[in-house]
Amino acid sequence: HWTAEEKQLITSVWSKVNVADCGAEALARLLIVYPWTQRFFSSFGNLSSATAITGNPMVRAHGKKVLTSFGEAVKNLDNIKKSFAQLSKLHCEKLHVDPENFRLLGDILIVVLAAHFAKDFTPACQAAWQKMVNVVAHALAHEYH
Ligand code: HEM
Repeated sequence: HWTAEEKQLITSVWSKVNVADCGAEALARLLIVYPWTQRFFSSFGNLSSATAITGNPMVRAHGKKVLTSFGEAVKNLDNIKKSFAQLSKLHCEKLHVDPENFRLLGDILIVVLAAHFAKDFTPACQAAWQKMVNVVAHALAHEYH
């Protein structure tokens, strides 16, 4: 369900993404903008302010892990649901993350990409990436019942 142009826009942006920096920034923004998401990360230490969250090494490390995993979806554009089946089960059955949070993180990732790539993040790029984060959120919610 991807056009050749969408695939190209997604993979070309992805090839320039710094996974550690953008992953850390996206997770930190999630925790700051939607503070209720902090409750899943109570083992991560100090999340008491925006400065504490941005400087927290566990937030940085986990943000990198999440965005690296997102990269697996970029490499498997035609098979995202299947490649995320296990991860969906984990977030549902073990972590009990409400799938609405996948949407929030996806939308934040778009803000992060737009800030990093500025005018190179064209409206067409944004549209392809919006579709991408929706597909990922859908795949991660797929094993919920
Ligand atoms: C763990 C990916 C969104 C909460 C993980 C792990 C991955 C991952 C790869 C590590 C799994 C393992 O250790 O085997 C993703 C992806 C997401 C996403 C690709 C969306 C694009 C979220 C959201 C939340 C969340 C929105 C909560 C608001 C957690 C928690 C853990 C986890 C609590 C366990 C952390 C720990 O204690 O190590 N996720 N995740 N995830 N995820 Fe997600």
